[in-house]
Amino acid sequence: MAHDIDKTLLTRKQIELRVKEVAAQIHARLRELTPAGGKEDPRVTIVPIMTGSMIFASDLIRDLPVRMRVRIVAISSYPGTATKSKGALMQTELAAVAEDLLGSHVLILDDILDSGQTLDLAIKSIKAYGPASVETCVFLRKDRPEAQAFPVDYVCFDIPDEFVVGYGLDYDGYYRNLPDVVTLREV
Ligand code: IMP
Ligand code: MG
Repeated sequence: MAHDIDKTLLTRKQIELRVKEVAAQIHARLRELTPAGGKEDPRVTIVPIMTGSMIFASDLIRDLPVRMRVRIVAISSYPGTATKSKGALMQTELAAVAEDLLGSHVLILDDILDSGQTLDLAIKSIKAYGPASVETCVFLRKDRPEAQAFPVDYVCFDIPDEFVVGYGLDYDGYYRNLPDVVTLREV
């Protein structure tokens, strides 16, 4: 596996520090949205998009000390070895999680904002279930016009427009377990 790695863009330590910073921002926002002592039952639902955001989500939510539910959804966009977006496909029946979305403050988590098709589909699909609010947080955002123009609430890192793996991101299903974010050497 190691022989395929080209360069390290983000180290485990950099990631750890930045994810904590963003978690603090989100925590402050969630406290605004769900004030203590409010009459209503303030509900927070975190929606990580699988599989790419699994590691990001597990780190981030442990730094969000608020009452929350976590509902994963699967959206696929890069079938197999393709490295360019080919549209997004919702693979989770959202009706099954409808009660966690209705009236809830929803935070969608994704690994990377590239063309924006995945987040666009996630936001539209979730809004159809009547949430109180919907915010989005991505671990990475690529330096390409579609990604930069897409409105997103929290971004951990902006990176060059290159294909990256690690910290949950894959190439053909591999490399998700790398603790750093790296580019791959063309082989
Ligand atoms: P979008 O729908 O084009 O914004 O793409 C977002 C999805 O494509 C992400 O959830 C990733 O699964 C995948 N993706 C986009 N760029 C990369 C990359 O550089 N490495 C690995 N996966 C990527
Ligand atoms: Mg993905």
